[in-house]
Amino acid sequence: MNSMIVVSGGAGFIGSHLCERLLKEGNRVICIDNFVTGRKENVQHLLQDEKFSLVEQDITKPFSLDEKVEQVYNMASPASPVDFAKIPLEILAVNSVGTRNMLDLASLNKARFLESSTSEVYGEPLEHPQKETYWGNVNSIGERSCYDEGKRFSEALVMAYAREKELETRIVRIFNTFGPRMRKDDGRAIPNFVSQALEGKPLTVYGKGKQTRSFCFVSDQVDGQIKLMNSGYGLPVNVGNPVEITILELAEKVIELVESKSKIDFKPLPKDDPTRRMPDISLAKKEIGWQPKVKWEDGLKQTIDWFKKPFFPG
Ligand SMILES: NC(=O)c1ccc[n+]([C@@H]2O[C@H](COP(=O)([O-])OP(=O)(O)OC[C@H]3O[C@@H](n4cnc5c(N)ncnc54)[C@H](O)[C@@H]3O)[C@@H](O)[C@H]2O)c1
Repeated sequence: MNSMIVVSGGAGFIGSHLCERLLKEGNRVICIDNFVTGRKENVQHLLQDEKFSLVEQDITKPFSLDEKVEQVYNMASPASPVDFAKIPLEILAVNSVGTRNMLDLASLNKARFLESSTSEVYGEPLEHPQKETYWGNVNSIGERSCYDEGKRFSEALVMAYAREKELETRIVRIFNTFGPRMRKDDGRAIPNFVSQALEGKPLTVYGKGKQTRSFCFVSDQVDGQIKLMNSGYGLPVNVGNPVEITILELAEKVIELVESKSKIDFKPLPKDDPTRRMPDISLAKKEIGWQPKVKWEDGLKQTIDWFKKPFFPG
């Protein structure tokens, strides 16, 4: 491939792996980011590649690019629970005005567009595992609603552009993804547990730790997104790992792999924290020929190794 590809949010956790992979496949990549939750360090190593450029820009503000682009990956949005509490208005803005600006960029260029949606559109699911046909059970006024409803609005915008402007669009519903370059302090289970275990502090488990999650390693996630972008499928597709584990199981595995003496500290369950979350990935298998390859324990080892590196910024 030798396409010109825009990745908004490309200096974030998933976006930076996506930029890396697209460059490796021979594409030119323009990364747009305002570093609200991302870091320049995540793409520092790509800056010497002449096929890569970094534009510092808030996508909720008007902007234009001189280059003709062929694909647009819209990865810009804070995604962690600590951000939901700190910057809800920015989250609502990026998933509405920001998504619209990126859709306009794609429209102008007649480029293909991929939206990074989320399993959070299913809310506290009443169906398990979650299929793309499930409409969700979301609290529209809860503490997570800026994100859940923001993403649902983004999906609606994308479908309106597809129907009204005949834009070629893709929607990936990302389930919990992990790996190197996650922020240590982003409030998600894996970075929390790994940094607590490395520091010998107790691991914070909410409730009894019986709530389940399924964790997809970032290389598999990016692989699914690229396959979806290049497929002919225009409706939402779940991309995540269907292996369901409890949070307590995860905490115990982290303690084992870090060889830490940390204990587990049980705290009250936060509001609207989903109790079960697991993707049904039959559609991804059928439509894009994707399923995860990396076992969560192997991905966890790679993530722990990365968190051990001294240059890791908090
Ligand atoms: N990591 C996950 O498990 C997960 C799960 C579901 C969905 N997602 C989605 O995947 C995408 C990437 O998530 P991530 O985990 O890499 O998060 P991240 O916070 O690491 O990356 C998001 C990036 O978007 C940038 N950004 C945010 N607002 C912006 C704006 N207004 N203008 C320009 N750039 C902006 C941030 O600076 C950051 O670099 C997000 O859309 C997120 O909602 C992630």
